[in-house]
Amino acid sequence: MSIAIYTKNEKQSQKWFEALKSNLPNETIEIYPDISNLDLVTFLVCWKPEEGLLDKLPNLQAIQSLGAGVDHILDYHTVPAHIQVSKVVDDNLTHDMWEHAMSIIMSDMKNLSIHSKNQSTKTWKPKRYKRIREVSIGVLGLGTIGKYVASQFSITGFKVGGWSRSKKKIEHVNTFSGESGLNSLLSVSDYIVNILPLTPGTKGIINHNFLSNMKQGSYLINIGRGPHVVDEDLLSSIDSGHIRGAGLDVFHSEPLPEGSPFWNHPSIIITPHVASLTHINSVYAQVVENYKRLKNEKQLINLVDLIKGY
Ligand code: GLV
Repeated sequence: MSIAIYTKNEKQSQKWFEALKSNLPNETIEIYPDISNLDLVTFLVCWKPEEGLLDKLPNLQAIQSLGAGVDHILDYHTVPAHIQVSKVVDDNLTHDMWEHAMSIIMSDMKNLSIHSKNQSTKTWKPKRYKRIREVSIGVLGLGTIGKYVASQFSITGFKVGGWSRSKKKIEHVNTFSGESGLNSLLSVSDYIVNILPLTPGTKGIINHNFLSNMKQGSYLINIGRGPHVVDEDLLSSIDSGHIRGAGLDVFHSEPLPEGSPFWNHPSIIITPHVASLTHINSVYAQVVENYKRLKNEKQLINLVDLIKGY
């Protein structure tokens, strides 16, 4: 049995190596591509594994994603049913998603981008702002992260609705499911925060139809995945004045290509996939736990349903 680490960032891989080695000193842990025997790898710890990697590991038994999402694995690899796939579930990561969405919303409600632009031309221009209790937020996706984000908004004083594939119950959150439920939520929300997992069923969900159903003058925040959005549809919705703007943290292609029209759009705020970053100190224990479970032939924690894709 051995552990292979794969990330596209050498420093990151090294840090993971150190964290795992100090907790599993007697195990063989190696950083891909420097693997002494690919046949011995049973546990793959990875972020965005390169194409074909799984085919090189004939005795792989488990894949541990280094993030909350697993689309970077399931979208590009056929994972045989006997392989267990686990994601990271972490309170810090979950809370950070809320802080990010909250920052974009508060900044927009208080017109900070406009004041910042005015400052650069020494322009003094008061502008009406919004109050929390007057604003409604719709959260798409009510898994561990979405549920928490929706609750936090509600505790803060916003009017909150949430949508998920199957109906969920969350205290003080108006929950919806199904297509008509989605349209009901879209039509009443001042801000839509997308936290859906990326699956074949959610790819392209934020399209012309979706955007047309959003409330006139509302705002989109995407901290899910880039491919949830049909980019041209979002641009035309903003340019037509139906959607007021968007805060985008994730994109079809990352880093966002230089030629993307999003970069220069005055109504779009771009952040470089930083809504929440995995901190090794906060999550290494669950990766170690999963390896021990695999060794003891126990089911892994934070397991992904390969059929649902999250
Ligand atoms: C980040 O995008 C993650 O999946 O953790």
